[in-house]
Amino acid sequence: MKQLHKQSILNQRRDEESASSPTSQNQTYSPKSTKHQTSSRSIFTRSISYILKEQRLLFIIIGILIGSALISLKPTFNKQSYKNEATFLMPRSNIATPFDFGSFKPVSGRIPVSIGGKRRRVVVTGGSGFVGSHLVDKLMARGDDVIVIDNFFTGRKENVMHHFGNPRFELIRHDVVEPILLEVDQIYHLACPASPVHYKYNPVKTIKTNVMGTLNMLGLAKRIGARFLLTSTSEVYGDPLEHPQKETYWGHVNPIGVRSCYDEGKRTAETLTMDYHRGDGVEVRIARIFNTYGPRMCLDDGRVVSNFVSQAIRKQPMTVYGDGKQTRSFQYVSDLVDGLMALMEGEHIGPFNLGNPGEFTMLELAQVVKETIDPSATIEFRDNTADDPQKRKPDISKAKEYLNWEPKITLREGLPRMAADFRNRILNEDEGKGNK
Ligand SMILES: NC(=O)c1ccc[n+]([C@@H]2O[C@H](COP(=O)([O-])OP(=O)(O)OC[C@H]3O[C@@H](n4cnc5c(N)ncnc54)[C@H](O)[C@@H]3O)[C@@H](O)[C@H]2O)c1
Repeated sequence: MKQLHKQSILNQRRDEESASSPTSQNQTYSPKSTKHQTSSRSIFTRSISYILKEQRLLFIIIGILIGSALISLKPTFNKQSYKNEATFLMPRSNIATPFDFGSFKPVSGRIPVSIGGKRRRVVVTGGSGFVGSHLVDKLMARGDDVIVIDNFFTGRKENVMHHFGNPRFELIRHDVVEPILLEVDQIYHLACPASPVHYKYNPVKTIKTNVMGTLNMLGLAKRIGARFLLTSTSEVYGDPLEHPQKETYWGHVNPIGVRSCYDEGKRTAETLTMDYHRGDGVEVRIARIFNTYGPRMCLDDGRVVSNFVSQAIRKQPMTVYGDGKQTRSFQYVSDLVDGLMALMEGEHIGPFNLGNPGEFTMLELAQVVKETIDPSATIEFRDNTADDPQKRKPDISKAKEYLNWEPKITLREGLPRMAADFRNRILNEDEGKGNK
């Protein structure tokens, strides 16, 4: 009751107050339209003041500015990230293509080397060695980008240092027994000591180089879609029962002898090469190289030509092992390089014999050295080494037919060129017994 009484008093007071207020006194009816005209102006003013007060306009403008900035920068970001990806997937020369907006075409996988006649990137393992360095010279002269991989076991920086500073040339100290990741179009795989003195020095390492090194390079070729060329050897024929040796001959090799680390190593490298081709579709090429000579060979590496030439220049007797009637063929290095490049560029896998079919006995070779280098040179006979093949002469009819290749430089032309380089090195530096 007390509550109700209180409420009624309050209501009464409120009624009295409202009756005495000026607003209620002057309150008149306004037509709706008039009210709208006045309020639209006030709404506008109110909105502006609201936006300014709440700083919404500022936020809207900033938002628009950020949005347009992002849109204008977006192609640059895309281009950059695509470029990084492309560096790994494709030959470097092709990475600009997808950003040519006028002619954009989607790119998937590796672009073939030949597209657009772009510069090739070529890796040469063992590229600072004797054959490798001459191959590098010719690839550089052709205009390729060349990467040399070498652990300098028998190779020398001096063989390639004339390319230092050329942006198309790179030299990587690396052992092929360990994997490496590169992006190239072609792989010339030469890394392996080639002379008996060097490959017998650490036979386990020699076979590791041949097997694991070749596996690593084939794995790389498979991964990046590069063409792979193996430099195998006439030693895969062993002490041959067939003469001259054709590529169809399977060889006569001692699997447990002192030369087996090299001979059997190269035979296994050939097997791996063909298995990567058959099993994984890797584009491969196999060259079986016969005795090669020329400038930059190690001075005393146990190979007969370098031995005779350096002995003649040093005025020492030329060492002939056995009766000197065993035969060898001798190919000048520029002929070999031409053959290797013809093989790499051609359509045939091989194996191809690359050698000079001109056959010489050791005594005949000593005679040519005497004639072309030093007429006073003498001969000294020693016992023959184990497993030294009696005959070696390539049948190169397959290379002639399919590669349109045959050697051009005769022994009498090639020996003086090699002697000039040897004389220079023997007189000007102390290279030691095959050590660098
Ligand atoms: N010269 C020939 O008469 C002849 C004959 C038959 C086959 N071959 C083959 O040709 C290739 C080159 O022979 P070469 O006469 O120039 O021999 P080389 O000894 O002058 O060159 C071999 C190169 O391979 C490098 N090498 C060796 N093991 C390596 C490894 N584990 N990792 C990285 N680099 C390594 C050496 O440092 C050297 O630079 C070899 O594979 C050889 O078997 C040569």
